[in-house]
Amino acid sequence: MKVGFLQFYPKLFHEKQNLIEIKGLLENVDADLIVLPELATSGYIFADKEELLDYTAAARKGRVADFFRELSDQIDAALVVGFAERRKDRFYNSQMLVNPNGKINLYRKTHLFYKEKELFEPGDTGFHVFDFQGVKLGLMICFDWIFPESARTLALEGADIICHSANLVLPYCQKAMITRSIENRVFTITANRFGKEKNAGEEFNFTGMSQVTDPKGNVLISASKSERCVKTVEIEPAIARDKNITEFNNIQNDRRPAYYSK
Ligand code: ACM
Repeated sequence: MKVGFLQFYPKLFHEKQNLIEIKGLLENVDADLIVLPELATSGYIFADKEELLDYTAAARKGRVADFFRELSDQIDAALVVGFAERRKDRFYNSQMLVNPNGKINLYRKTHLFYKEKELFEPGDTGFHVFDFQGVKLGLMICFDWIFPESARTLALEGADIICHSANLVLPYCQKAMITRSIENRVFTITANRFGKEKNAGEEFNFTGMSQVTDPKGNVLISASKSERCVKTVEIEPAIARDKNITEFNNIQNDRRPAYYSK
């Protein structure tokens, strides 16, 4: 299976331009699965819900879902993309898994970072895996990484590949995802954005360095801090089903939940 990430610099308040850029980067790509950054269509820093409103979209119908359905169909690849979801009068920091057959699966970010708490509801979907070509894809978004329970839950649900859409600002995650791979023996794809964003008295420098890791913690491919790119690599997802570290140790069967406090 050929998998990879798209790394770019989404422009705040410029959804149309962001979608055109995504299409330009992806339309000649030959892959089965591509992960895109968190809030890839809208940009990240919004002053308040009112300012965010015009950049939110429904999860399964309307302009953003239609755009990614069409693109997924055109390049015959599954796409995982972060977007600002509107559901009635509530907003979620969400991720859609768009299958080339038009089906969309949804994840809503569980662990909100910093002032995201003023814009979005905490996600209520929980962590789930979805089948794509017989491979189990787990979804999580950015700051979910700092809670090992996120990746652990996905791995226990059977994830072979964790699809991690991100807008990273702290310097730790890329290293931590190597550990998430090792401790769960899964592939991970972290798709991060880069560039500076300034609005509403806040400024962030996003860290780029998107990567794909394998179940032994090898970084198979990565991007630089400010590379606009799509990178792909051929992987054998079934390797993630072998949870034996030694002939005596299986990282799932050897767990002792009775001794884990909560
Ligand atoms: C983050 O969760 N966007 C840092």
